[in-house]
Amino acid sequence: MSAAISYKDLGLVNTREMFKKAVDGGYAIPAYNFNNLEQLQAIITACVETKSPVILQLSKGARNYANATMLRYMAMGAVEVAKEMGVEIPITLHLDHGDSFGLCKSCIDNGFSSVMIDGSHLPYNDNVELTRQVVQYAHERDVTVEGELGVLAGIEDDVVAEHSTYTSPDEVEDFVSKTGVDSLAISIGTSHGAYKFKVDRIEDIPPLRFDILEEIEKRIPGFPIVLHGASSVVQEYVSLINEYGGKMENAFGVPEDQLRQAAGSAVCKINIDSDGRLAVTAKVREFLANNPGEFDPRKYLGAARNELVELVKHKNEKVLGSAGRA
Ligand code: G3H
Ligand code: 13P
Ligand code: ZN
Repeated sequence: MSAAISYKDLGLVNTREMFKKAVDGGYAIPAYNFNNLEQLQAIITACVETKSPVILQLSKGARNYANATMLRYMAMGAVEVAKEMGVEIPITLHLDHGDSFGLCKSCIDNGFSSVMIDGSHLPYNDNVELTRQVVQYAHERDVTVEGELGVLAGIEDDVVAEHSTYTSPDEVEDFVSKTGVDSLAISIGTSHGAYKFKVDRIEDIPPLRFDILEEIEKRIPGFPIVLHGASSVVQEYVSLINEYGGKMENAFGVPEDQLRQAAGSAVCKINIDSDGRLAVTAKVREFLANNPGEFDPRKYLGAARNELVELVKHKNEKVLGSAGRA
């Protein structure tokens, strides 16, 4: 069996310090999912240029797609590239929606500095037990852990939840103290993917349940809270996709002003995947439609990468408030 690799040798950091600063400073750390080189390049470029700390997130599906060893070296490469760009930004490599102790352990042993164990679909006591087990293994290696209470509607890897269950404020204190987690993902009305709300018009999007968030904050003051399913489903990208041959109907996300409000509270990590996917798909479709003779992937993926840089800068500067906080 090969020896475990510590994230510290890769130049990565865990989330402890960045979350503390974010809670105190009233902003949120961006957690961007990636699966390939262009996405990673765009995220790092934009975060260095905006001087923002960043959490690079990998799902189980991303690991299967891109290969765990390849991804470890890519994360290492990202750290080096950021240094070469002349600005030191804190970079975390995080497992998104870990579904078992084995997967979390494998990530910790392969250079991740943070893991999520998502036991939100389990009965409460089983969620506590699984999370506690992961925390014990992780903390022995100075890796931080995100747990989840409450169920988001939508798709999380292989798990499809038709309906969401809001986080119960009555459970959070007990969960946090029994498990020892470093942060808690909650369910207050967001969901994963590009079809977050069953509405026909943007005006009909139901607001997030800030009342539940406030109640949670009262029970665990200052504790780092995480918001999943936080893409805004940028309408310009949806329009471009539809203009150039795609078909996305009633695709709506969380309005930016609500994310800004959340970032100013105990929410200190905001997860964004779908908006990045939309940016890439929109630009690839547009480029290929306008350049039918082009077949060099660098051209259409380059166009997508450029757009992703702009999107990430916008999020850091105008939505999460993480710009200038590195
Ligand atoms: O929450 C799920 C993330 O958007 C990752 O999605 O499992 O398709 O990689 P994925
Ligand atoms: P979105 O689908 O809203 O981007 O959410 C991503 C997420 O929560 C990853 O864990
Ligand atoms: Zn998620």
